[in-house]
Amino acid sequence: MSAYILNRRQFLNVGLAAASVSFLPSFAAGESLADERTAWFRAAKFGMFIHWGPYSLASVEASWPIMKPDSWGISETDYRALPKRFNPTKWDPDHFIDMARIAGQKYMVFTTKHHDGFCMFDSSYTDYKITNTPYGKDIVKQLSDACARRDMPLGFYYSPPDLNHPGFRDTSKLSKDNWNGQPERYLWSSYLDYMRLQLTELLTRYGDVKVIWFDGLYHQEKYDGQRFLDLIHKLQRTTLVNDRIGLTADYVTPEQFIPTSIPTKDVHMRGADSSIQKELRTGVPPAADFQLWETCMTINQTWAYNAHDHNYKSASDLIRGLVEVTSRGGNFLLNVGPQPDGMIQPEFQERLEAIGKWIAVNGESIYGTTFGPIQGEKNYRTTVKGSDLYIHVVEWPLTPLRITDLKSKVLSVHLLADNQPLPFKQTERDLQITLPQEAPDKNVSVLSIRTL
Ligand code: GLC
Repeated sequence: MSAYILNRRQFLNVGLAAASVSFLPSFAAGESLADERTAWFRAAKFGMFIHWGPYSLASVEASWPIMKPDSWGISETDYRALPKRFNPTKWDPDHFIDMARIAGQKYMVFTTKHHDGFCMFDSSYTDYKITNTPYGKDIVKQLSDACARRDMPLGFYYSPPDLNHPGFRDTSKLSKDNWNGQPERYLWSSYLDYMRLQLTELLTRYGDVKVIWFDGLYHQEKYDGQRFLDLIHKLQRTTLVNDRIGLTADYVTPEQFIPTSIPTKDVHMRGADSSIQKELRTGVPPAADFQLWETCMTINQTWAYNAHDHNYKSASDLIRGLVEVTSRGGNFLLNVGPQPDGMIQPEFQERLEAIGKWIAVNGESIYGTTFGPIQGEKNYRTTVKGSDLYIHVVEWPLTPLRITDLKSKVLSVHLLADNQPLPFKQTERDLQITLPQEAPDKNVSVLSIRTL
């Protein structure tokens, strides 16, 4: 049994006696390759998802208008004609990297191909691609060059469903009739070969690919995911792979929701399925059971740019979202759908800036941390890094903040907002911290607790 697991059990069960236990689950204990590969991802915590393609011209969702056409008001013919007009002359990958940096986002995931099959890279195996639009240049190449130059980890979203490929489905029919794919047809293997060729392009022409973010939708077993996992690892040993090609691979991807307790390996978590929530164990799992995860989320309701969708989450909600996710050991992949001209809309920029302001003060309680030792409290969340414990106060209490279940001896407490030490009293039963009258941050105020 690793030193870590012993420590963790002591920490959970033994009480104050385990005062010298470090909070941080030492993933170094096992020192497995998986841990080395995921180290940057676990530390990064916050990323920028980018859903972009010719669909942004129509202010609709990506691909879904041809899969479930009823509510979008665009025909498949019109949707298919969008690339003829796609010319994002204001697109500047450096601007996106600047925005991600301002927001505090430490990696990016970009849609190289969505379900519609349109490629934002210059694939040699299709004509349905960015270099055949008026824009004419390989956007994935521009982005990957900029990311390499500026040291921004980049991952590729790649959709296994491909409504444009005749091996995936009978393309003489409308997409709405067979968008789940037709693995029973003899042409299916030609589609899997196409995937192999395209993944090979993505992993050999665009530098370091930190993540392949599959989005397999239903019946993912039809893709024979292991074959692609092997291919990816052959081409780039350290590329991480998410869980949407029929295998859990490196991490799971709750979509548009934040799990209410810490995900563990025995629970599958793909869609926004409320039954998942019921299966989750409460409390703090042993580190070996922890399932690495990433919530992906939109700022409004759609992944693609949609001028009619004004249902924005507030900056405060997004900051709280980041805190919720981090307190349960996850990553937060927050989406922007760029405009058809290549710009990020002002409503998104404002929110990214506001998150960045919060992170500039409180970032040490987010990056490089993992789930905290106290879960399920109403007023606060916890994260932990080494022997530092962070308390994210989401509801500012009127009385001293009382923390029970803290097993370590506290050396000091201070607010990240002003670095001022706060008076505290620790007894066998609890830790009481005297807080200023007003919360220093209207979003979430963070206390740093140094322990022995
Ligand atoms: C869903 C949608 C897709 C989106 C993805 C992001 O699976 O099909 O449009 O790209 O979620 O998680």
